[in-house]
Amino acid sequence: MRNPIIVALDLPSAEQALQLAEQVAPAVGAFKIGKELFVSAGPDIVKRIRATGASVFLDLKFHDIPNTVAQAVAAAVRLDVQMLTIHTSGGSAMMRAAEKSALATAKALGQPAPLVLGVTVLTSLDSDALTEIGCQPNVGHQVERLATLAVKAGLRGLVCSPLEIADLREILPAEIQLVTPGIRTGAEKADDQKRTLSPREAIQAGARWLVIGRPIYAAENPRQAAEKILASIY
Ligand code: C5P
Repeated sequence: MRNPIIVALDLPSAEQALQLAEQVAPAVGAFKIGKELFVSAGPDIVKRIRATGASVFLDLKFHDIPNTVAQAVAAAVRLDVQMLTIHTSGGSAMMRAAEKSALATAKALGQPAPLVLGVTVLTSLDSDALTEIGCQPNVGHQVERLATLAVKAGLRGLVCSPLEIADLREILPAEIQLVTPGIRTGAEKADDQKRTLSPREAIQAGARWLVIGRPIYAAENPRQAAEKILASIY
């Protein structure tokens, strides 16, 4: 049975992140290291999490000229991450360069290529915010447009909000892996997440991976919380 749970290590220090990782590792599929932890703890935190045997999702959302993104992706592959993110709004050439760099660097090192995930429209952007930056105002259309472009550029996965999973599944090839945050079990408060699905609903809608933060790390017993979530899915 595959374990689709990715725990977001949204914690301020390497020590706290490592402690949580060790505690919940047997019950989860991977750990997400985002900007806060990476900027404060450095690449070393990736190596330390990898050293525990766990898979790492490096969520730094690269967006730059193709060559710069390709080099950053190569550096991430050398850190031996299993997933990483780029912004699809960086354009086709940037996405192609990122995917090519992931495949080539991994091949040269003799390791499996990480999944390069495209981020479409940030969930913090609404119709007005999209219009302001010169995009079409319909968020759903913009998400579909960027998702289609990402697949054409060769990406094998995308990050999307829970409520976009079903629509994207209809237009994307089945092998494209969807990763979704915004997961709530109902047992905890929704925090600042407004558009949520339960773990089971998200998997049934077609998500391959679930990014879960507070429902696990803020639980009284994170290991038990993760086990309960996993049991609720299958
Ligand atoms: O604590 P929670 O389960 O809400 O954490 C979700 C994780 O997914 C956080 O790391 C958050 O930054 C990330 N995320 C999100 N919503 C998005 C994109 C990413 O919650 N639209």
